[in-house]
Amino acid sequence: MQSNSPRQARDGERSPAPEPEAALDPDAMRQPLANAWYCVGPSESFSSTKLRAVDLDGEQIVIGREASGDVFALRDRCPHRGMALSKGRFDENGLTCPFHGWRFGTDGRCRDVPTLSSSDQADFSRIAVQRFPIRESAGFAWVNPHLGPPTGGDLPAVPDLGFKAAGRLVLELVVEASFDLTTLSLVDPGHVAFVHDSWWFRPSKTLREKVKTFTPTPHGFTMTSHGTATSSPVYKLLGGAPQVEIEFRLPGVRLERIEAGTRRVANYTFATPLGRNRTMLTNALYWNMPALNLLKPLARPLMRQFLTQDQQVLQHAQAGLDRKPTMVLFGQGDLPSQWYFRLKREALAAQAEGRTFRNPLVQQQLRWRS
Ligand code: FES
Ligand SMILES: [Fe+2]
Repeated sequence: MQSNSPRQARDGERSPAPEPEAALDPDAMRQPLANAWYCVGPSESFSSTKLRAVDLDGEQIVIGREASGDVFALRDRCPHRGMALSKGRFDENGLTCPFHGWRFGTDGRCRDVPTLSSSDQADFSRIAVQRFPIRESAGFAWVNPHLGPPTGGDLPAVPDLGFKAAGRLVLELVVEASFDLTTLSLVDPGHVAFVHDSWWFRPSKTLREKVKTFTPTPHGFTMTSHGTATSSPVYKLLGGAPQVEIEFRLPGVRLERIEAGTRRVANYTFATPLGRNRTMLTNALYWNMPALNLLKPLARPLMRQFLTQDQQVLQHAQAGLDRKPTMVLFGQGDLPSQWYFRLKREALAAQAEGRTFRNPLVQQQLRWRS
């Protein structure tokens, strides 16, 4: 039990009793929230001249840009014989299926079936490809893959950036692991010292006691640090004593915001379910100091190394979970992981009951060593 742990016993005054560790249902582990916004790629990867196919939660989606500049998202499947529309032509007339030439508008409606004879009475105007809600924010496109009847409740907001970026560095990496396991790595302080032990990120090898306050936010929680006492060279770049705020938000969004005077850096990480045990990790680093643009070629391989560290360990852990799909979430360092599942359960309940989301978390101080 947690209370037997000597490290827990020192945690006297303010923290409520730790929650019991949970053995998790393997099915709940595997399903991403169906009705939520997921990052599908950087805005600049979607154009009005070229279609792009993306996977999202087992669905194939084709994304492009209308002449107006708005993005659109359609199911990547021609209703005629299932052909991928992303393989066809795309111009001002819309999408043309490469199999028999059926044409569709960017609204998904069938506009023409060129093989019909003029004497044929068949009416193609009732044929349509499913359209998905899509929007853009923080330099990315976000799609909600939910196609069923509308559910109740309010959805977690799509992240935005609170400042004007002078530069941005984006990296995407596919992880062969479930959405939940991958998302847990965004709220798991315990793995940092062991997985991300590169000299440039975490030069010290000794574990130190951490005390952090966590506050509920509309669909997640925030960890705030004032004048962070980290020795990380990344924070040193900013000079001074930066303030760091890390927010986690459903469905799988981690927003790290660093402020030092007028200098701003944001490190955003998004998990996107591609299919079963296949998850995209997107990392975007934004800054408002033009001088940092010079560091971009240096920062890219470091960011890749960081994400690859997560990728490797998550893939090995997934192999273990495939053999026995249970976890023991233990101690205060695992509470944020437990909160993730509580938030998700509440989101599902709110949607099923047609009511607004009620954050089940309370403000809490956590202690752990990392
Ligand atoms: S499959 Fe698309 S037109 Fe036939
Ligand atoms: Fe990590």
